[in-house]
Amino acid sequence: MTGTYWIETWGCQMNEHDSEKMAGSLEGLGYAPAASAPDADVVLLNTCAIREKAEEKVYQFLEKLRPARAANDGMIVGVCGCVAQLQGQGIRDRLPFVDLVLGPRASGKLPEYLARAKDRRGIVDTTLYQDSILAGTENVRRQPGRVKAYVTVMEGCNKTCTYCVVPATRGREESRPLEALLGEVRRLAGEGYPEVEFLGQNVNAWRCPATKAHLGDLLRAAGRVAGIRRIRFTTSHPLHLSEDILRAMAEVPEICDALHLPVQSGSARVLKAMRRGYDAEKYLAKAEEIRKWNPGVALSTDVIVGFPGETEAEFAETLALVRHVRFDQMFSFVYSPRPNTVASMLRDDVPAERKSERLAELQALQREIQLERHRALVGRTFEVLVEGRSRRREEEYAGRTTCNRMLNFPSARPLAAGDVVRVKATWASPVSLRGERDERAADGGETREAMA
Ligand code: 5AD
Ligand code: SF4
Repeated sequence: MTGTYWIETWGCQMNEHDSEKMAGSLEGLGYAPAASAPDADVVLLNTCAIREKAEEKVYQFLEKLRPARAANDGMIVGVCGCVAQLQGQGIRDRLPFVDLVLGPRASGKLPEYLARAKDRRGIVDTTLYQDSILAGTENVRRQPGRVKAYVTVMEGCNKTCTYCVVPATRGREESRPLEALLGEVRRLAGEGYPEVEFLGQNVNAWRCPATKAHLGDLLRAAGRVAGIRRIRFTTSHPLHLSEDILRAMAEVPEICDALHLPVQSGSARVLKAMRRGYDAEKYLAKAEEIRKWNPGVALSTDVIVGFPGETEAEFAETLALVRHVRFDQMFSFVYSPRPNTVASMLRDDVPAERKSERLAELQALQREIQLERHRALVGRTFEVLVEGRSRRREEEYAGRTTCNRMLNFPSARPLAAGDVVRVKATWASPVSLRGERDERAADGGETREAMA
């Protein structure tokens, strides 16, 4: 009996999936899931460094774990992920009871280091291993009950956005070969997953190292895998989202009508200081191109407010862009200076309070837009992939449309995760829809969601 493990995860889907890989590798060594972190023999923190707050949470968690660690001589504590990469030895200097510090591209070495960690000398490995992308994809312990399986298609990011810590924490771009990815998709389909999501920090830049195939080719090939009904991919970059990808989305019904395309700001000056490589006009032209190829596509985005020196007029340009595009979903953040980034050296005279107000203003606008968009969908019928019971009402089910909208609905017939049913929307909120099943219609028919 080897013992038990607990993995605490923060951050993006990439991190969530890395945790699934680490769990798989621990279970391969004979570890079983623990009931809670203090009970576990191995506690791993898979961390996110994107904003300062995310980083603080890691230290808070470690402080809370300290008494359990002190009471259990056998417990091994590891910090993995982006904070590990960024702080390295600094984590052990601050909290010497941490046994293991492992960057995201060193996590394939977990079994080896775990065996060594028991001697308590402390291990720090923040090497950006070249072939890390090939490690740990066989033995994944996926979260139970999910209908969507993540597939990492590439690691790292070669962009130079001035605010972002990711190129430093995840290193240069490296793509997995087409055949390996298709093999994984086939395996997932065989395991019963109807949906896959391809992950990469800059997923449009995926390029098969063997065949030189592009993302459009991968998407088309994945669409031909029997059993796969839905394919998503994230995150796209406005400069790299090619016409070929848009054409693949239009041609292949399995590719979902949803695109995550971070805009970050509506101001040309700010976008230039961020080194995003486009201005608002260029982004709008891309959004138009997307909607020309795929009129029903749902566009989601990320926005940063309060970038160093952002003026009221520049913030107003962001609001104007958001009003113009009418995004289906938005993730918005107050700018947070990150170690060793170009932006963190810029002079910033925007008061913190004003930044929070801008965030609230932007979020209120987005809520309004989402509510309007959702209300326009009431009365329409959608193909919904059932995810399970509704969180709010236990007697109802929850599922998603191809546009990634959440729909809650009752059903006379019991349903299972993975079922595909037709649901007519009857009520809308800014975050979700409610509806009723169209029980007369044959389920499973192909309906594309029309534009709101
Ligand atoms: N401060 C605030 N938000 C950030 N993001 C990335 N870096 C920062 C930062 N330093 C946001 C961007 C990105 C999303 C994942 O997180 O909007 O698209
Ligand atoms: Fe967080 Fe970015 Fe690392 Fe994902 S890649 S965990 S978002 S810092």
